[in-house]
Amino acid sequence: MDLTKLSRKIYLIIRYILYEKYAFVFFFFYKLVIDPIKFKFKLEVKNPFIKNRTIYINIDKIKKFLIKKKTIKILEIGTNLGEFSFKLHDYLLKKKIKFKIISVDPFLHDFRFVSKSYIYKIFKHNLSLKNRSKNIKHLKLKSLDAFKFFKKKKFKFDLIFIDGSHLYKDVMNDLKFSIDYKKNYKTEVFLDDLDYTYEELLKIYKNKKVLDNLLKKSLKINYIKDKVNFHPGTLLGVKELNIKMSNKKYGSLSRVI
Ligand SMILES: C[S@@+](CC[C@H](N)C(=O)[O-])C[C@H]1O[C@@H](n2cnc3c(N)ncnc32)[C@H](O)[C@@H]1O
Repeated sequence: MDLTKLSRKIYLIIRYILYEKYAFVFFFFYKLVIDPIKFKFKLEVKNPFIKNRTIYINIDKIKKFLIKKKTIKILEIGTNLGEFSFKLHDYLLKKKIKFKIISVDPFLHDFRFVSKSYIYKIFKHNLSLKNRSKNIKHLKLKSLDAFKFFKKKKFKFDLIFIDGSHLYKDVMNDLKFSIDYKKNYKTEVFLDDLDYTYEELLKIYKNKKVLDNLLKKSLKINYIKDKVNFHPGTLLGVKELNIKMSNKKYGSLSRVI
């Protein structure tokens, strides 16, 4: 390990101990004490920091979108630990609804203490449990490349959940392709982390110029902690493409109407 990498790790250890203790415990417990992947335990490796994933998806609220006559085809952009796919998988199986989930994530390194390659290993480990890989397929691709592939192969989806990169450029791509799906195949599209619409933020900032300047400076920023906390890329994508979103929330998801 070179010095820059080593100092980066030391910095991250200190940061995680001070601010994100649970992430440190997670790493310490799973990677250093018992590594279920290394020992091939048939145990689900869970993220101990997020106890209730209904924050992201409230399945009860999206129930009516899950009932289709044939196999329901679902696309998830952004896999991470796979918690969303697995939750949906276990629910649909219980309800005897036929389905296929394709989840897309490039698992690119993003300088976190728990590296993306380790997260990917955990995902693959959990995917191998409960016969999940029968109904969930993963593509280790950026969503843009995945969408190009789906278009070429004329893949159809009933539902698309967008929860990949939250940067403006990427959200724009994900929204554009998904809106095409909505138009061509009546696909239901859900978007995560639209914390506020532009109009809602304008009421908070009260000054269009200040808000526009802030947004202009945030094209490569994932999350802003300012007067309120929000994902600027998600907000801007919706605004620029003039997409109408339902007021009703489905966990932290919003639905394109
Ligand atoms: C918020 S996490 C997804 C969480 C997951 N949907 C869940 O609820 O369990 C966002 C993920 O998007 C992935 N990502 C980043 N850039 C991406 C891209 N261009 N295409 C697809 N996924 C991307 C990241 O690697 C990260 O794992």
